[in-house]
Amino acid sequence: MKKSIRDIEVTGKRVLVRVDFNVPLDPKTNEIMDDSRIIAALPTIWYLVEYRAKVILCSHLGRPDGQVVPSLRMTPIAERLSQLTNLPIYTVSDSIGPKVTSAVEKLKNGDTLLLENLRFHPGEEDNDPAFAKALAELADIYVDDAFGTAHRAHASTYGVAKLLPAYAGLLLEKELRVLGNLLTNAQHPFAALLGGAKVSDKIELINNMLDKVNILLIGGGMAATFLKAQNYAVGLSSVEEDKKELANQLIAAAKKNNVELLLPIDVIVADAINDLSKYAIAPISMVPANKFIVDIGPQTIELFTEKLKECRTVFWNGPMGVYEIPQFSRGTKSMAELLANISATTVVGGGSTAEIITEMHLGFKITHVSTGGGASMSFLEGKTLPGVEVLMDE
Ligand code: 3PG
Repeated sequence: MKKSIRDIEVTGKRVLVRVDFNVPLDPKTNEIMDDSRIIAALPTIWYLVEYRAKVILCSHLGRPDGQVVPSLRMTPIAERLSQLTNLPIYTVSDSIGPKVTSAVEKLKNGDTLLLENLRFHPGEEDNDPAFAKALAELADIYVDDAFGTAHRAHASTYGVAKLLPAYAGLLLEKELRVLGNLLTNAQHPFAALLGGAKVSDKIELINNMLDKVNILLIGGGMAATFLKAQNYAVGLSSVEEDKKELANQLIAAAKKNNVELLLPIDVIVADAINDLSKYAIAPISMVPANKFIVDIGPQTIELFTEKLKECRTVFWNGPMGVYEIPQFSRGTKSMAELLANISATTVVGGGSTAEIITEMHLGFKITHVSTGGGASMSFLEGKTLPGVEVLMDE
């Protein structure tokens, strides 16, 4: 367990809080398309404001690669944060340097300042000691609430935590508790529903979960590699040929661990992957050679539904098909609705799966939607997250 902000006196202290405000922006209007990550950071911000700390928020936004990219300035985030909190959110045009020092000096107890995009400086991603030191000099205490970036050893997630007393924020604490419970304390039956494009992205996760889950359900693009490995024809669907053997090894390992591994029994097949293409349902043994698999089929939806309804814990990561195209989104949407309506502990991995839940306005019916895409995967793969490891132990 890591020490959290609840373990310290923050009143009157300058508290540097690393948040993950890396939110999707509309490429045309620069408007925030999903503010879930900002909302998720509110408990920590409220806590610090209520206890009259001088709150200095910092985050990256996008991948500006050490350059100032005007469209990636934090201005829209500050505006949204101000709307959400009904508080003034002060801003400054850099994240280190004299302007920032002076903005911090002006803060009164209970004020909040949002620094400029950390990744405008190459020192952030390089974990440059000088950049970390400049950040550390702004504050008395460091708080990490950026679970989504905890798998990165950057200056603001790692370097600075070595220089200041370093505590977990309330979001980071919650993510570690809920995801940690999946690994050590899940109620059974426990199922993992996995999709997404590639088997290679999920291998380590599957390996780490095989002795923890009772059921493993596989859909999405990655199912094609498993099906091909089991000698089914998958038409024009892309297959990771070099992972077929591994897919068979995972199937065998599941059997050995008494894990019920389910692949699609029927699929939606289409002439092309666009919203004008003709499509049809095909049993898994009859996928035409000239078609792409684009979604799981109705019988698979029914089978997965029956299995998941029996579970007391369900973890979901990865779409079941090409969900961006409405006619191929039925499998993914059905799974989202199912998770929202079963009486189980339901945990959704971050990234695109979290975005689907947000788009469907189902977040309030899911036990926990992680704010970390890569971070939640790394954690569930059993890896140590540098941004967590560096914080003080209880
Ligand atoms: C994320 O969106 O996964 C985090 O904010 C980390 O961003 P990155 O992949 O650009 O480091």
